[in-house]
Amino acid sequence: MALIPLSLARRLARPLQPLCALCAGGWLREADVDCWLRLLHPALRLNRVCARVDARQWVADDMLALRLRCNGNARGWRAGQHVQLYLAQDGVRHGRSYSLTAVAADGRVELAIKRQPGGRLSSLLLERVEVGQVLELGEAFGELRWPADGRPVLLLAAGSGITPLLGLLREALARGYAAPVTLLHQVRRRAQRAFVDELQTLAARHPNLQLRWALSGEPALPGEFAGRLSDERLAELPGEHLLVCGPRGFVEQAQAGWQAAGRGASLQWESFSPPAPLDGTGTVRLGFARSRQQAAGNTGQSLLEQAEANGLRPAHGCRQGICASCTCTLLAGEVRDLRSGALFAEPGQPIRLCISAPHGDVEIDL
Ligand code: FES
Repeated sequence: MALIPLSLARRLARPLQPLCALCAGGWLREADVDCWLRLLHPALRLNRVCARVDARQWVADDMLALRLRCNGNARGWRAGQHVQLYLAQDGVRHGRSYSLTAVAADGRVELAIKRQPGGRLSSLLLERVEVGQVLELGEAFGELRWPADGRPVLLLAAGSGITPLLGLLREALARGYAAPVTLLHQVRRRAQRAFVDELQTLAARHPNLQLRWALSGEPALPGEFAGRLSDERLAELPGEHLLVCGPRGFVEQAQAGWQAAGRGASLQWESFSPPAPLDGTGTVRLGFARSRQQAAGNTGQSLLEQAEANGLRPAHGCRQGICASCTCTLLAGEVRDLRSGALFAEPGQPIRLCISAPHGDVEIDL
């Protein structure tokens, strides 16, 4: 039960700042302060972001849009970024990243959640989260931005990759972006096309927006593309800026085709898959200093996966090197960035566990 409305709870963020300083100085415990604040409103916290579920709407067969209103601690968020959403199950707190498809100045945001086969958290969110419930969120992260120069834009999305691009597209059109924009969404089945009604309404309202769908697991109808993205298809799609989002294979295909066609350096991408393990794995010794644990490891998998395989639970978010939640200090040894192949060996250097593989024996502050 709330003693004050959420709109008033949101406005308390600034007046509560002195309490943050007292907590930082060790005079108060943040958990105790939060207990008192929750009595005023279940979403009120000193520092953490909590949000009330205002609405839920299925936007595809396997995708739910959750409309939330955040407390006053969600600052500087942008549509197209991602945010960690936490839920406790059987006493264990689980977190996953979801894209912000809309962000408003009054704290209203929208997240789109796709059902993942075998995904415990997505199933819980899709089936059990109710209107009025309060959820905890992390900080927003992600660097995708709408191009600033007013030239034609090509948006390529596969699966849930539509969600950050939709957030950017909605805002750009609302601001009056007038250059041609083409959006291609690739899905396996027609029923997985997300936000179709809204996209068609946007296209009717903004003649500069062209929509295309590609089906990789069902016969295509007239006007739809059949099969996965290819260089030939990419060549048919206009645009001078490319924003691409989806699983790693899709993103790599788009990047390679765009660059091979010499279509310029204006390319932004995000992949929802963790980086691929390296070939030719050797055996190494892993030292987890704070846990006082030693283990045999390999040079192919990320340190995040290897720490988890050894029973540790490092903090993490996106698992793709974007959110920095898994950052940890390298104490000794050398690691390789799984995305670029770059080597890092400076003791005391922060590394992201999800994209770093050992390159020999390593010790990390975990
Ligand atoms: S989990 Fe997000 S950067 Fe590693």
